[in-house]
Amino acid sequence: MKKNITVLKGDGIGPEIVNEAIKVLDKVSEKFGHEFVYTDVLIGGCSIDANGVPITDEGIEKCKSSDSVLLGAVGGPKWDSVDPSIRPEKALLRVRKELGLFANLRPTRLFPQLADASPLKASIVENGIDLLIVRELTGGIYFGKRSTAEVDGELVATDEMLYSYHEIERIGRVAFETAMKRNKRIASVDKANVLDSSRLWRKVMHKLSEEYPEVAYTDVLVDNTAMQLIKNPGQFDVIVTENMFGDILSDEASMLTGSIGMMPSASLSDGTLGMYEPIHGSAPDIAGMDVANPLGTILSAAMMLRYSFDMPKEADAIENAVNEVLNAGYRTGDIMKEGMKKVGCKEMGDAVAAVI
Ligand code: IPM
Ligand code: MG
Repeated sequence: MKKNITVLKGDGIGPEIVNEAIKVLDKVSEKFGHEFVYTDVLIGGCSIDANGVPITDEGIEKCKSSDSVLLGAVGGPKWDSVDPSIRPEKALLRVRKELGLFANLRPTRLFPQLADASPLKASIVENGIDLLIVRELTGGIYFGKRSTAEVDGELVATDEMLYSYHEIERIGRVAFETAMKRNKRIASVDKANVLDSSRLWRKVMHKLSEEYPEVAYTDVLVDNTAMQLIKNPGQFDVIVTENMFGDILSDEASMLTGSIGMMPSASLSDGTLGMYEPIHGSAPDIAGMDVANPLGTILSAAMMLRYSFDMPKEADAIENAVNEVLNAGYRTGDIMKEGMKKVGCKEMGDAVAAVI
């Protein structure tokens, strides 16, 4: 099959980690007889420098007309003080919104080989961690009205958090459908003891849960979820939550897996178009040093094959290769432990590609 992939390498370590994912994808295409065609589009700070905006309209059109989008990371201190309307992160939000990528899947899996890399006690993670965060991605406080104004002589800032019934229902459906293919448990996370948007969230989720009697459903408040993720992460299967809660909880959950560098994500629309990216940021402090962990991006490429291209065998090949490379003792600095083989970003990509 021939597939067109728009590549948004972005800033910081973005280019290095995406290059390793492409190396792995090329191996997959060679082995399975596909053709992947890549088109680079600037995003984030590099696009601000080149074009004055964090992504151009043509760039957005390129993303829309491709079969899927692979992203590295955006942002860095160099652009921290640019006008908020052209911040690097704005581009990411724009791509998510314009491509209709409302469902963000963030699988949190502890590779047993990395149990020591998790800061949690072995007794907490030893039974394995395998949960999936389903984060709503195109609504909530990320997309509500924002303003800063002087009121009675002092500055007042507002960020509106808004959810409509249908926005909640469609993300809920993704979560229930996914749970049916997993362990059939859902924790819906909200702050219904305080927020109206959460009360509507809960109401819609309860209605949906009637359609899925096989799925064991619970409501969990977001603060309690933050605690339970550390106390007893094994209790979770699918966590479904709104945009900002999902942002925060997925960073927390990443540490269960040892390193945020291991975590992939898929952002899905209601068609086959999706965007795939590691959940970590652009790590400007280590950019260009060939020490970043490319596995989150490589595993994101596997998700692309699975969800956008319907290539499950190919996706398995990547995931199995990552597993083998970890078995063989390859470790980037973030997951390094004594006695293992410390490698850089490129060497890690080479190792995965070689197994495939
Ligand atoms: C993420 C990131 C983004 C977000 C930032 C870079 C805007 O933290 O994908 O989790 O908050 O969604
Ligand atoms: Mg985040």
